[in-house]
Amino acid sequence: MTASNRVPIIGGNWKMNTDRTTGIALAKAVASGVASLQAQGKKVEVAVFPPFVYLPAISETLCAAGSNIALGAQDVYHAEKGAFTGEVSVGMLRDVGVKTVLVGHSERRHVIHEGDDLINLKVRAVLHHAMRCVLCVGEKLEQRETGQTNTINERQVRLGLRDVRPDELDRLVIAYEPVWAIGTGKTATPQDAQDAHRHIRLVLADLFGKDAAAGVRIQYGGSVNAANAKELMSQPDIDGALVGGASLKDADFLQIVSAACGG
Ligand code: 13P
Repeated sequence: MTASNRVPIIGGNWKMNTDRTTGIALAKAVASGVASLQAQGKKVEVAVFPPFVYLPAISETLCAAGSNIALGAQDVYHAEKGAFTGEVSVGMLRDVGVKTVLVGHSERRHVIHEGDDLINLKVRAVLHHAMRCVLCVGEKLEQRETGQTNTINERQVRLGLRDVRPDELDRLVIAYEPVWAIGTGKTATPQDAQDAHRHIRLVLADLFGKDAAAGVRIQYGGSVNAANAKELMSQPDIDGALVGGASLKDADFLQIVSAACGG
């Protein structure tokens, strides 16, 4: 548990990595490691986010292992169905066992050029369908260097959560992922990450009230590894991690999961 009784939550975002065979092997190893931690009474929630095409295979793997790891999708489209070539709806994700969806990941914002309006539609679609939504926010390097970190995060949180109802908040997780820290080996210092998380929680409090904001988990992401995870997650407003590169190696990912529940 975190200091605040929020159960820590760790996500493994596989991005456009793995194939069917390596994905299944990774899921099996992670399921087994997480099961042993939980058997020791450790309280932690874990999700994995494989590429879309491997979701059914990973779903079967996790089910066969009797795992409570949540199957996650890296993106979604907000419409229910129709002429949206290449897109996938919330209902389709649910149909193959998905429980949690990343929205507004930095690579979707800055490589695929998704804007806050589209991100907001996706957040609302996921929450409306009673699934967990992980809204990702974070500033770019030049924005940090010019002192805009909190302004950018605040804008992305406010626009991303426009028209979200307070009763949907129990399904919301925020992932703070500074763009300059993703895949670069540069991690925010625990204090810088804590400051950004604190500000995001204050924005949530302004939108939904202090008690509701205190219940929302905020994950840190950006070059989290087995060595830096514990110190980052010991900060009072850091409730877990969203892990990219290190989630592709089962031993590293499991060390991060273990760090989330006190090591
Ligand atoms: P890395 O852990 O590879 O920096 O990626 C972080 C991330 O983008 C997770 O969503």
